[in-house]
Amino acid sequence: PSVLRIAVLGCGVVGTEVVRRLVTEADELAARTGAKLELVGVAVRSLDAERDPVVDRALLTTDAEALVARADVVVELMGGIEPARSLVLRAVEHGASVVTANKALLAQDGPALYQAADAAGVDLYFEAAVAGAIPIVRPVRESLAGDTVQRVLGIVNGTTNYVLDSMTTTGDGLDEAVAEAQALGYAEADPTADVEGYDAAAKAAILASLAFHTRVALDDVERAGITGLTAQDVEWAGRTGHVLKLLAVAERAQGDDGTAGVLVRVQPTLVPAEHPLAGVRQAFNAVFVEAEAAGELMFYGRGAGGAPTASAVLGDLVSVARHRVLGGKGPVESSHADLPVLDAGHA
Ligand code: NDP
Ligand code: HSE
Repeated sequence: PSVLRIAVLGCGVVGTEVVRRLVTEADELAARTGAKLELVGVAVRSLDAERDPVVDRALLTTDAEALVARADVVVELMGGIEPARSLVLRAVEHGASVVTANKALLAQDGPALYQAADAAGVDLYFEAAVAGAIPIVRPVRESLAGDTVQRVLGIVNGTTNYVLDSMTTTGDGLDEAVAEAQALGYAEADPTADVEGYDAAAKAAILASLAFHTRVALDDVERAGITGLTAQDVEWAGRTGHVLKLLAVAERAQGDDGTAGVLVRVQPTLVPAEHPLAGVRQAFNAVFVEAEAAGELMFYGRGAGGAPTASAVLGDLVSVARHRVLGGKGPVESSHADLPVLDAGHA
């Protein structure tokens, strides 16, 4: 089989799990993609930091730019805007496919990056950027492309859902619950992004852009976080038959001048206890889609954490690897080769 050189940028909560899968499931991944996925380097900030033993220290580098230059597929898991943005651009410009989980980057600069990838004829995949392990980007972008989405409701931040759930069930204070979410690997490097709703707003902007076939930027999203909420608010919600959730809502709206638009907001919301979103516990996420023909759809699963997020990253990696092996002809199932061929004489 052919060989694809894989560069992983970032070896934190998610990067470590992606490296683990690349190392421990190398044969399985080769069988699924038709190419050996050779990990050629892992970019980090510090060469001296303690790492999981699965990470071969000889592969670590602080020169991400040089690493990108010798890769066929770049997996960006460092987070933040720069240098991630420049590295992704550099990767596509020299013909590498890119997989990223970086919703902050996509919400800010997505269109420029998609355009650069299109111009270079390479894939830029980002299933892990919205709701961790849940397949939601492809269903909204592809499966629902022939329908008319009316509204998307989502719990798309695991940290805040964990925090609100802990406040509800254990009576933990906000700071205590945030510290737990950090220790479990759910929170962003700066958890302000989670608790102030910026992370959910970035995901809401990406989802709304895909669902409504338009460009929704981060600044277009009305945003409020959970920092002002108290144990009394949470308790009062319960007494009135509700559950308090940080909800992202994107819906069609008509402006005063009659033009059609999209309204997107993230804010703490009282969800009626009988609504399916009320039962979403801990760091789980869920996205509820209302579409004209399909009706109501709900996508549910683990929205944060190393292994769940790595699942979505690996899914993208397998897809882009298959595209490269097939010369851009799109994914195929490896089992096609085993399908029996109908003898035309007996048809
Ligand atoms: P971490 O903070 O755990 O890891 C970041 C990694 O990137 C570290 O290894 C760090 O190096 C490296 N890094 C950061 N800046 C640089 C730089 N300038 N040059 C080289 N290396 C750098 O982040 P996560 O793994 O949690 O998140 C990674 C991405 O995945 C982010 O975009 C995040 O939003 C996204 N994501 C995270 C999820 C989660 O549950 N954690 C879920 C879904 C998406 P060093 O180790 O030396 O510090
Ligand atoms: N910090 C994010 C969250 C990670 O808590 O949902 C997943 O995107």
